[in-house]
Amino acid sequence: MIMCKLSLLAIFPLFLIYLSNLSLAANTIYNVQNYGAKSNGKTDSSNAFLSAWTAACASTSAATIYVPRGSYLIRNAYFSGETCKSNAITIRIDGTLLAPSDYNVIGKSGNWIKFEKVTGVSIYGGTFDGQGAGLWACKTSGKKCPQGNTALAFYNSDNIIINGVTAQNSQMFHILVDGCHNVKLQGVRVSAPGNSPNTDGIHVQSSSGVSIMNSHVGTGDDCISIGPGNSNLWIESIACGPGHGISIGSLGWEVQEAGVQNVTVKTVTFTGTQNGVRVKTWARPSNGFVKGVLFQHLVMSNVQNPIIIDQDYCPNHESCPHQGSGVKISDVTYQDIHGTSATEIAVKLDCSKTNPCSGITLEDVNLSYKDGRAKASCVNAGGRAFGLETSGCAL
Ligand SMILES: *[C@@H]1O[C@H](CO)[C@@H](O)[C@H](O)[C@H]1NC(C)=O
Ligand SMILES: *[C@@H]1O[C@H](CO)[C@@H](O)[C@H](O)[C@H]1NC(C)=O
Repeated sequence: MIMCKLSLLAIFPLFLIYLSNLSLAANTIYNVQNYGAKSNGKTDSSNAFLSAWTAACASTSAATIYVPRGSYLIRNAYFSGETCKSNAITIRIDGTLLAPSDYNVIGKSGNWIKFEKVTGVSIYGGTFDGQGAGLWACKTSGKKCPQGNTALAFYNSDNIIINGVTAQNSQMFHILVDGCHNVKLQGVRVSAPGNSPNTDGIHVQSSSGVSIMNSHVGTGDDCISIGPGNSNLWIESIACGPGHGISIGSLGWEVQEAGVQNVTVKTVTFTGTQNGVRVKTWARPSNGFVKGVLFQHLVMSNVQNPIIIDQDYCPNHESCPHQGSGVKISDVTYQDIHGTSATEIAVKLDCSKTNPCSGITLEDVNLSYKDGRAKASCVNAGGRAFGLETSGCAL
């Protein structure tokens, strides 16, 4: 009897190993340590990660790349999906990916960890640490410094999941989604100091069907920034701060520019941020547009510009002829927005003199400043306001 039990126990682990290597099984596991990755935070593991990727990518079925606990130094890594057979690659990370602390080592490619032309890639867990402090110090001191790199970037990719991922201390943007369709960011955490330059949390451009949910972004620039060419973007249950808020723009730098359409931003708290929700366009000719935006259920806590449209953006008044912004803004709704403003003018709609905003709705907007009501200021903006507890705006 005892003999029999023992032999079963002995066979069971062998059976599991057999299952995990069986390519007909649902999922084959590619552990980066088996490809030479070292969890000591010192040995460059870029090539090991790339080899694991190449193997997973060649798999004809679902594949999982596994990164065990520990810290992995990655000089930089570029994962291309162009020759992939698998369209279901899961990257499960229990450890931390560490960028070189010397910003000259990554190089000037603009990206530290980059995915391009991939389909069906899901990242679960893990920390991407950009170690950007050296570059921020260079930039802050006014010296001539490289522009820096985005920590985690997806280009021209479809069906992407980024779940439970932490991105911290990036040299520049933390997470970039560019030219992608159907991307779900869920439970993401972005963390960098409030005074770190150009460290946007999540930047989305030229993409459709992107959702960002249940995430926390505290950084030195925009928590979420929305560039040209986005449609069907959904942002919900976000905590933003420190940072510059959620921004559509800057748009309208180019004359020919794709518009931004159907954006929902709901249930967001902004804490001590420079802006709450902002639409920002260059005061330059452009055929760009913003239409169909809903900002709903927002809580502002000591925010400098809780609601702002700035169509007169032109730092140092350089490169802007006198036309005003060509970007046409229409059908933007602000609904159920309350809390406190850090400045007296809590609602500032400064629309283009050549292309006024139309279809602006302000509904149940109640923001206070010190012990009283905050004020609103609207220029070249058309629409309607009701339940507006913030006076001074003639729509
Ligand atoms: C707007 O985008 C959402 C996803 O964010 C989508 O569900 C909805 O169908 C889109 N609406 C239109 C009119 O395309
Ligand atoms: C607006 O907010 C103030 C302060 O929180 C509150 O006293 C007031 O009742 C609110 N007004 C409305 C119409 O909700």
